[in-house]
Amino acid sequence: MNATEEAEALKMLFLNQHAYLIPKIMFTASDLGVFDLLMESKEPLTSVSIAEGLGTSPFGMERLLDACVGLKFLQVERRDNQTLYGNTNLANLYLGKRSPKTQYYSLKFNTEFTYMRAQHLADAVREGEAQTYRINDISTKNFYEAFYRTESGLREFMEFMREMWSLCGRVVLNAFDLSHFPLVCDVGGCSGALAKEYISLYPNSKVTIFDLPEVVETGKKHFVSTEEHRITFHGGDCFKDPIPEADLYILARILHCFTDEKCVQLLTRLHKACKPGGGVLVVEIVLNEDRTGPLEAHIYGMLMLLCTQGKERTPSEYNALLSAAGFKEIQQKKTGLFDAILGRQ
Ligand SMILES: C[S@@+](CC[C@H](N)C(=O)[O-])C[C@H]1O[C@@H](n2cnc3c(N)ncnc32)[C@H](O)[C@@H]1O
Repeated sequence: MNATEEAEALKMLFLNQHAYLIPKIMFTASDLGVFDLLMESKEPLTSVSIAEGLGTSPFGMERLLDACVGLKFLQVERRDNQTLYGNTNLANLYLGKRSPKTQYYSLKFNTEFTYMRAQHLADAVREGEAQTYRINDISTKNFYEAFYRTESGLREFMEFMREMWSLCGRVVLNAFDLSHFPLVCDVGGCSGALAKEYISLYPNSKVTIFDLPEVVETGKKHFVSTEEHRITFHGGDCFKDPIPEADLYILARILHCFTDEKCVQLLTRLHKACKPGGGVLVVEIVLNEDRTGPLEAHIYGMLMLLCTQGKERTPSEYNALLSAAGFKEIQQKKTGLFDAILGRQ
């Protein structure tokens, strides 16, 4: 290593060792209301007025604001002998609780839940499986059982899932022309965020959200309005209960939660239920064939190890799963963060 490489390596080591603080900084600023306050004030503010407005110590707030500047969530300027802080475009759009494309629940989930799970990473690697959740009175390895046991936990998880498709749902569904699939079933469709994108993209389509009964109940109550009458809900277990008939089955962020055996079992059920000429659309972050990246897939891989029985897969691994279930003419397209894989019956 020459001197420049050594300096770069040192910086990389330092930043990576402390990177666990970044989501905490992002979430703390969001949760305390920093980004919302700056959005509403329409002008940059001093750390003292932000601290006053949010009821925190001026000393702590100034440290937090400076860290946000370093991370490019905030910008800073000197004017009339004062240091003034304002949101960057990124903060305005995503980081406020009231931002148009807020990622607040995603930040909350990652800093509160996955952060705690990450304490068990070594055990998960040793044992090759998700660790038992011990939440008050229950002890389970089933992620959903742990999370869905309270109405607030379930709603927060659904909000978290919804937020991603407010960013890239449209782009994912645009990967292929799906206009010849008017009857759709979104398996594990959760809050219906992708279903909403689908019906707005294809005005003659209808989407059934097939999810666990408690998710369906909450989805009807809080996420899909009665005006969105082209979206219906169907409660059940996709591994056991009858699958609603459809031209297209969507599996978004589902297969990566399950083992290969469970994936083939589910895909085979969908292949059987599919209307003639129909298909399946799988949406996942796909690993490069040589497993070199993208880093987003490796990060998701760690989360899956910590929380589920699943993993991220390469294009040929997805191909093998879809083929084993009987799907043909499998095509894959990169859409940005997520990849879309379409298989025909
Ligand atoms: C990781 S989330 C993905 C949600 C949604 N597809 C998305 O991308 O936003 C997995 C979803 O599958 C649902 N699910 C898990 N097991 C299921 C089962 N056996 N039958 C039906 N739905 C299930 C969960 O309730 C949850 O909504």
